[in-house]
Amino acid sequence: MSTTEQRVAVVTGAARGIGAATAVRLAAEGRAVAVVDLDESACKDTVEKITAAGGRAVAVGADVSDEAQVEAAVARVVEELGAPTILVNNAGVLRDNLLFKMSVSDWDTVMNVHLRGSFLMTRACQKHMVDAGFGRIVNLSSSSALGNRGQVNYSAAKAGLQGFTKTLAKELGKFGITANAVAPGFIATEMTKATAERVGMGFEDFKAAAATQIPVQRVGEPEDIANAIAFFTGDAAGFVSGQVLYVAGGPLN
Ligand SMILES: NC(=O)c1ccc[n+]([C@@H]2O[C@H](COP(=O)([O-])OP(=O)(O)OC[C@H]3O[C@@H](n4cnc5c(N)ncnc54)[C@H](O)[C@@H]3O)[C@@H](O)[C@H]2O)c1
Repeated sequence: MSTTEQRVAVVTGAARGIGAATAVRLAAEGRAVAVVDLDESACKDTVEKITAAGGRAVAVGADVSDEAQVEAAVARVVEELGAPTILVNNAGVLRDNLLFKMSVSDWDTVMNVHLRGSFLMTRACQKHMVDAGFGRIVNLSSSSALGNRGQVNYSAAKAGLQGFTKTLAKELGKFGITANAVAPGFIATEMTKATAERVGMGFEDFKAAAATQIPVQRVGEPEDIANAIAFFTGDAAGFVSGQVLYVAGGPLN
C-alpha cells in the first residue's frame, strides 16, 4: 500500500464516549473510519460528525463478542471502505458488584465483551494488516487493571488486555504491526455517569469528588484518550509496541 492511500480504521463501541471521540479524531487524521457498535442506528451521530467535517465513515452494527457478527462486520468494512489496518478495541461494559454478589453472567458478560470481543476483532482484522505489511492495534485497558473494589470481572478483563496486547506485539511485529494499550483513569462518559447513578450520586458531584484525587485536579474527557490513541495509530509510532500507557491525569500507585 502506498503511504498516500487512505488508511482504514475500525473503532468498536464508537457510538458514544471514548470510541466516538476516537473515531472523530482518527477521521481528522485522514483515516476512513468504520464506526462499530451494537446498534447500527446508534452510530449515526458519530458518522454524521465525521462526514460533516469532510471525512469518510460508515456505521456498522455488530456485537463484538459474536464471532459471526464480527466476521460479517469486517467483511462489510473491506467492501465499503477498504481493508482495515488500524483497529481500536474500545467496546466495553461494566457489571460491577462485590465478589460475593457477582453472578456468573456478570462475570461472563464482561469477559465476553472485553476479551473475547478484542480477540475476535483482532483476529478478523490482522490478516488485512499482514497483507498490507502495516497495522496499528490499540486495546482499551483501564486503571482498574491494577485492582478496583467491586470490579473483579472488569479488572481481570482489563489486566488480561494488557497481556493480550504484549503478546500481539510479539507475534505481529514482524509484519509491521504494532499493538499497544491505553489505560484510562476516570473519563466523563455514559459509563462513569451510570456508576454515579449506581452509587446514588449526582454526576457533577461524582466528577468533582474524583477530581480531588487526580493530580491534574480534573477528570478526563473522551478527547484525552482519543489523543493518545491517535499517537499510537500514527505512521510515526512504528517503533512503539507492546506498551501500556496510563492516561489518568497523574501516575497510579
Ligand atoms: N469512562 C472511563 O472512565 C473509562 C476508564 C477506563 C477504561 N474505559 C474503557 O474505555 C472504553 C470505552 O468506555 P466509555 O466510557 O466510552 O463507555 P460507554 O459506555 O460510554 O461506551 C461504550 C460503547 O461500547 C458499546 N458496546 C458495549 N458492548 C458492546 C458489544 N458487545 N459490541 C459492540 N459494542 C459494544 C456500547 O454500546 C457503547 O456505545 C471501554 O472499554 C471502557 O471499559 C473507560
